[in-house]
Amino acid sequence: MPAPDAPLIVVGLSRDASLSAGRAFLRSAGVDAADEDARALLLVACGIDRLALVTAAAAPVSESEAQQYRSLLDRRAAGEPTSRILGRRAFWTLDLEVRPGVLDPRPDSEALVRLALRVGRRHGRAPRRILDLGCGSGALLCAVLDEFADAHGVGVDLSDEACAATRANLAACDFGRRAAVFRGRWSAALVGPFDLIVSNPPYIRAGDIAGLDREVRDHDPRLALDGGPDGLDAYRELFAGAPDILGRDGVIAVEFGSGQAGDVELLANGRGLQKIDAEQDITGRPRASAFAIT
Ligand SMILES: C[S@@+](CC[C@H](N)C(=O)[O-])C[C@H]1O[C@@H](n2cnc3c(N)ncnc32)[C@H](O)[C@@H]1O
Repeated sequence: MPAPDAPLIVVGLSRDASLSAGRAFLRSAGVDAADEDARALLLVACGIDRLALVTAAAAPVSESEAQQYRSLLDRRAAGEPTSRILGRRAFWTLDLEVRPGVLDPRPDSEALVRLALRVGRRHGRAPRRILDLGCGSGALLCAVLDEFADAHGVGVDLSDEACAATRANLAACDFGRRAAVFRGRWSAALVGPFDLIVSNPPYIRAGDIAGLDREVRDHDPRLALDGGPDGLDAYRELFAGAPDILGRDGVIAVEFGSGQAGDVELLANGRGLQKIDAEQDITGRPRASAFAIT
């Protein structure tokens, strides 16, 4: 990223002018979503909602608001993602907490939610027991529990921080009594049967991590990214364990990275699992596949 342009002066400006100045500052720092990010940070600095920004656009920002805005903009220009600065991320229909040390859930993972909703209703019945392996913030588990109102869920993650984040998001979404979270290695300590397993495991090749965008490399935990030498280590373990804990007609739906669909399917086939459905992300790339013992 290039160095940001001129110092940003926002004290005493209107909210509207502050927004323009913040947008220009972020643009000069090479931030792609400069408008959206400058707006979100201004709302936080001023303690207002979107409506107040529109209806009272001419109101001047106070000195403390201006100072806070500048400090938030500086963090964004230095590469900290807006969701991490705000500690919040909109995912599916939910507003989730994002914590340090836990993967920031991405819109791409909504492809896995869409797929899970389709295959979860396989044979016309909604799933009753759902498992999220590598639950991170709990984004997938919360989204599917939101859609399958009679289901109970289990989240598993090797990271203590992730387990705590999932518990917090489940509680905030009012799903605390429908789900339990355990620290563990994939399905190693679990007893089935589960009707639906979802997983977005780490799938970046270890050698590619140093070259990731700094917003990912410097802020998402390595445990959530590192898929081993070929990026596929986690799938080997997931598919090895899945047949033992899938119920009759059970389905496992997994997310993967660009170009991995074929390799992931071969690994699943090697464990007696056949592809039954797939989903693309918003750019049209294969992003998630569902497998069952057929
Ligand atoms: C790519 S993140 C996905 C997080 C979340 N499900 C989401 O979609 O936002 C992968 C998660 O797998 C967890 N993980 C990595 N290795 C694991 C293992 N051996 N057993 C269980 N969880 C693991 C990481 O801690 C991380 O939370």
